[in-house]
Parts: sequence; structure tokens; C-alpha cells
Amino acid sequence: MLDKQISTSHKIPDPRIPGQASFIPEPEKGGLLGHVREVKQDFHGAMIRWHEQYGDLVKFRLGRQRVYLLSHPQFAEEVLINQQDVFSKVYNPDKPRGLSLVLGNGLITSQRALWKKQRRLMQPIFYRSGLKDLVPKITAAGTKLIEEWQQSDLSKPMDISAQMTRLTLEVITQTMFSTCVQSEVPQFAPALKNVLAFAQNNAFNPLAPPLFIPTRANREFKKSKAILDNLISGIVNKRKHSGKRYQDLLDVLLYTVDESSGQTMSQQQIVDEALTIFCAGHETTANALSWTWYLLSQNPAICQKLHSELDSVLDGRIPNVNDLASLVYTRAVLEESIRLYPPAIVLIRKVMKDTEINGYKLLKGALAIVNIRNIHHHSDIWHKPDSFNPERFLGDNKDNIQRLSYLPFGAGPRVCIGNHLALMEGQLLLAYIAQHYALSLVKGHPVKEELAVTLRPKYGLSMVCKAR
Ligand code: HEM
Repeated sequence: MLDKQISTSHKIPDPRIPGQASFIPEPEKGGLLGHVREVKQDFHGAMIRWHEQYGDLVKFRLGRQRVYLLSHPQFAEEVLINQQDVFSKVYNPDKPRGLSLVLGNGLITSQRALWKKQRRLMQPIFYRSGLKDLVPKITAAGTKLIEEWQQSDLSKPMDISAQMTRLTLEVITQTMFSTCVQSEVPQFAPALKNVLAFAQNNAFNPLAPPLFIPTRANREFKKSKAILDNLISGIVNKRKHSGKRYQDLLDVLLYTVDESSGQTMSQQQIVDEALTIFCAGHETTANALSWTWYLLSQNPAICQKLHSELDSVLDGRIPNVNDLASLVYTRAVLEESIRLYPPAIVLIRKVMKDTEINGYKLLKGALAIVNIRNIHHHSDIWHKPDSFNPERFLGDNKDNIQRLSYLPFGAGPRVCIGNHLALMEGQLLLAYIAQHYALSLVKGHPVKEELAVTLRPKYGLSMVCKAR
């Protein structure tokens, strides 16, 4: 049953009104292909528009594929928690589409017994208690960046988005694989961008030609995917042949013996898992930091307050693990930034059998998209939802945030495995860099959101860094 929290203001379907119980609105569609054109043109924009126009539950069609768009915490709770067995991940290893073309059968895309086994195996690396040991590696990456900035001509604008990607890449490779791949960035950065854009289009385009057809896009995808596979296989093989142990994630993948089979993981599974962590673990955090710099540049009073906290807590020192509890405003800035710009916008599931959520019937075979961004901007849940206000994440305000109104890391059993790492890393790097630099956006630089698996600034962020 619905309770008072369900929005009624601009939302159309309301099962409490007789005759509307199973009515799910649908935007006007264009013929046989349904809403393919809108989705291809600007999926992110269409989802925002449809939520605003039609409400918290909307249906649309991609060719014959029925899709539900869900934009309310109670729907999220049904899909991700209460009916998790009915709403399964969409990936099928026998017919890979979208992200599974890139990540194979790693932790994001695998399901059932394999996922359970792998999650149990990898989880200890991400326990909060052990993460503190990673702090020196994270701040070392920050020091490297700051030293580079100190030696460059700071009067020239930099693409902060690219800088943050390089930074978080260093963190993920150092913390998870105890290695550095900075010298190979020029080769694989464009490849990564290409495969993610391809995966985004492939997942929602029923007309996408199968990979074996040698279209230009397919050929480029295969070339880019091979570059990434070679990079990751190179890291894995180098470690294997070195015979050294580092007690990092790569060691867990290489040396854990499965109790039932007595075997270690296959090379393919190791590469899929490592590539998954490599992609999921730096793109997202880079976007979180990039959007934070943008928001700070547009909100000088908040930036000032952040600087005051950093000056009083750190006083010029490199942040360490003990500072995390004191840097409360820094943390709130980060949390508010990923409310406004959640790096992973959509959680996609397949409806495995006819079901009902909060009075609405959803049909077997359809896709269900929980839109994190729409929930985070919901006007019935958040006061002035589009404004940047870190106070929401301080003290009582934070305690009073409704369940599942804030879910940048998802929820339920498939919640992000790297959530505590991401927040700790973001807090440390934001504190460390903001302590030394104030960043301002170059006047006239266009800032537009682009959904390419993660939510990134489409034209990067051209910013000038001024030493404080
Ligand atoms: C701000 C940073 C991050 C955000 C916003 C984020 C967001 C998410 C979300 C929303 C999911 C759930 C996907 C779903 O249910 O379909 C997820 C899953 C996942 N994330 Fe993150 N993530 C971040 C950082 C990281 C980091 C640092 C790592 C690894 C080091 C990581 C690894 C993963 C993995 C492996 C999964 C799949 C978990 C599973 O299904 O068991 N993420 N992430």
C-alpha cells in the first residue's frame, strides 16, 4: 500500500483514485519503434522530461521492448530490495549487450551463483576497517597531482574533468592492483571513452547491428575493447610472473582457491573482474570530483566555508585517516554534489515475472529503470531540489533524509561494493586539493550533462586553478 509519501502533485498515476489503479502514462510515441528516437537523441534529457510531465511511473517502448521508468524511493525499494528476485540484472552472458560487451562477466554484470561467490570473495578488500590502510596511497596520488600543478603554467585553463580522471585512475590502480598505468593513458583513455559510449548506445538501441557485422562503430568498438583487455591482461600477467604478493584485490583474484572446485579463478574471470573494478572504480569517482569543482566554482559562499574548515582542521598538512571525522563540511559538500549529479544515474533491471508494485502492474519481460537522478531531484522529497546546499548532509538534516531518497550507490544486495572507498577517497582528495587551490570555470565554457554509462560533463570542464 502507498502511504502519504507518494507524490501526488505533478504525478499522474495514483492507485488510490478509482479507475486509475493500473494506469501508467506513456509519452506520445513515434510509430513502430516507439521512443527510440528520443532515447537515441538524449536519453538523459528524455527521462527528466518524462518524469516532470508524466510522474513517478512512466512506460515507454524501444521497438518491442517495454520499459518502465521509476522515479520514487518507494519504487526503488520494491525493485532493489523487497522484490529483488523479480527484478534481476539485465545481462545475459550468452547474448551480451550494453555494458556486458565491455565488462564480460565481472561483478557488475554477473548474476546468481557466480555473482554471489565473487562478491563474497572480493567484499573483504572493501570493508571499512581495512580501507584506512589505503589512505597513504590515495594521498600519494594527490601529492603527485599537486606537484604537477605546481610545476605547470597555471594561468592556462585545464580540463579538470581529464585531470580528475587521471587522478582517480592512479588511485584505483595503486589501491587495487599496486601498480601505475599513467604512461599508457594516451592509448587507453580514448578507448575507454569509446567503449562506454558504444555500450550506452547498444543497451538501448534495438536497431544496433550485432557485433559480427563489420560496421565502422563495431570495428572501432572491437579495437578499443582489445586495447583495454591488453592493458588489464598485462597487469595481471606481470603480477603472476613476478611471483610477488601485495595483499591487494589482484592477489585475491589470482590466488583465492574455490572451496568446492579446489581451483583458482580462470584467466578470463580475473580479467573481467579486474576490468570491472578498473572502470567502475575510477570513472565514477572522477565524475563526482569534477562536478564538485564545478559546483564550488558556482557557489563562492560554500567554497569559502569549505576553505575555512580545511584551514582550521588541516592547517596546510596532508589529510590523514584521523582527519576524516573532522572534515564534516568537506564530506557534506561531496555528498550533496553526488545528490545533484549522481555519477551512476540509472539502475536497470529486467522484470522476471508479472508483478505489482504499489498497486501498479508491471509485465514480465519489461525493463525497469530506477532513475537515481530523478529521485535526487524530486520536488516532493527535497526542498529546493536543484540548489546546491551541503547543509542537507549535516547533523539532524542528514539523519532525517528519507529512506532511499538518497541512493547514489544503489541499494540492496547489488549496492556498490566500492561505496565507502569512493566516499573516503573523494573526501580526502577534495580536502587535499581545495586546501591548496581555488578553481574557477572559464567564462563561457559550456557545461552540459552527458550520460555515457556515467554522468559526465559533455565538454569537459575548462577551469583555472589559483594557488591559495
Ligand atoms: C562516486 C563513486 C561511485 C558511484 C556513484 C558508484 C555507483 C554505483 C552504483 C549505483 C552501483 C549499483 C549498480 C546497480 O545496482 O545496478 C554500483 C555498483 C558497483 N560499483 Fe560503484 N560507484 C562508485 C565507486 C565505485 C568504486 C570506487 C568501485 C571499486 C573500487 C566500484 C565498484 C562497483 C562494483 C564492482 C559494483 C557492482 C556491485 C555488485 O553488483 O555486486 N564503484 N556502483
